[in-house]
Amino acid sequence: MSALTELHEEISHCQECELARHRTRVVPGEGAENAAILFIGEAPGWHEDQQGRPFVGPAGQFLNELLASIGLRREDVYIANVLKCRPLANRDPLPAEIQSCRKWLDRQIELIGPKMIVTLGRYSLARFFPGETIGRVHGKARKQGDVICYAMYHPAAALHQQSLRESIKSDMLKIPQLLAQAEKLPEAERQPQQLSMF
Ligand code: URA
Repeated sequence: MSALTELHEEISHCQECELARHRTRVVPGEGAENAAILFIGEAPGWHEDQQGRPFVGPAGQFLNELLASIGLRREDVYIANVLKCRPLANRDPLPAEIQSCRKWLDRQIELIGPKMIVTLGRYSLARFFPGETIGRVHGKARKQGDVICYAMYHPAAALHQQSLRESIKSDMLKIPQLLAQAEKLPEAERQPQQLSMF
């Protein structure tokens, strides 16, 4: 059993917050264990809670299309959420829930070792771009240590608003080039300004 599978086993028994009492399934995340790109959404919705898999509802269909636009399938990347269990009635995650779930995401990042983390929605944005707003930072990359952090609108928001839909599509199209640039740069020269960052 891989370390990531073991971690997911551990996550599936988590009882650290109230969400454990109402969930149908835990949704740890899925994808390639050594994925270069890790997408991080907000929390499971109804479909995800039923299936125990991230982004399998309408927003997930759109995410699949976006991935296909850059020649990727879900299995080529890793998809996870800030929260591993569904908040009842899809309410917003509470600060205490985010805090108690944080260690799981930390360990996933450590084990997967992505080159790029793509935030989807405001809760993952808050973690990787503290104090920023999505309107300002979407489509721009920022280096944190060795990892490129990149913010995109949440696919669910973009599903219903044509202008956001165009933004998210064009933000997705920038990913291959950002990744390629990062790989070409020698470690010592990987400075934020060289990756068209802030
Ligand atoms: N929205 C999310 O943020 N995550 C999911 O897994 C599904 C919908």
